[in-house]
Amino acid sequence: MKKIILGITGASGAIYAKRILEVTAGHCELDVIASQSSNLVFQEELDIDLDDLLKSYKHVKVHDYKNFLSPLASGSNDFDAYLVAPCSMKTMGQIRFGIGETLLTRVGDIAFKERRKMLLLVREAPFSTVHLENMLRISEMGAIIFPASPGFYHNPQDINSLVDFIVGRVLKTIGLDIKLTKSWKT
Ligand SMILES: Cc1cc2nc3c(=O)[nH]c(=O)nc-3n(C[C@H](O)[C@H](O)[C@H](O)COP(=O)(O)O)c2cc1C
Repeated sequence: MKKIILGITGASGAIYAKRILEVTAGHCELDVIASQSSNLVFQEELDIDLDDLLKSYKHVKVHDYKNFLSPLASGSNDFDAYLVAPCSMKTMGQIRFGIGETLLTRVGDIAFKERRKMLLLVREAPFSTVHLENMLRISEMGAIIFPASPGFYHNPQDINSLVDFIVGRVLKTIGLDIKLTKSWKT
């Protein structure tokens, strides 16, 4: 079974992280690191306590974002991909510059040094020149910058369809081809 690390930050788009948690059950082992701001955004956008939500999934192992004693903080930890979803501009900037201030950004540093697959589902609008520079450099260093901007050519009828458009493609890009036909928990 694939081992995926999921970083959840305080960017808008908590619904993407929620859907990733939901659809990956039974498909991979998921080590999750949630930033300090992520819970605030979960409350604001979904009225959900992220800590409670994480506890409800059997395939999820939670790691405190401040805990550098976590096995994830070591380069010898094995994983198939690091996915940050949604990814804030702050976390993206820290990952770009190798600033391992939290476990979230430390894993980004490890993904680069160990040449592991990394995908950042970035969310901001508009982008500043700093954001664009960071994205270019991260892409040049081998990670995937994936904008949280769904297509509309599949004639989406609701927000869940837009979310699944992104989540399905993100997971496929990191090697998890999951058919998103499961019903939505609301
Ligand atoms: C409701 C809400 C929405 C936010 N949306 C974004 C966003 O889309 N992109 C972003 O970069 N920051 C956004 N922020 C700001 C980040 O939460 C803030 O920069 C935070 O320091 C990010 O820290 P983290 O990357 O450690 O989670 C948002 C904050 C709140 C409260």
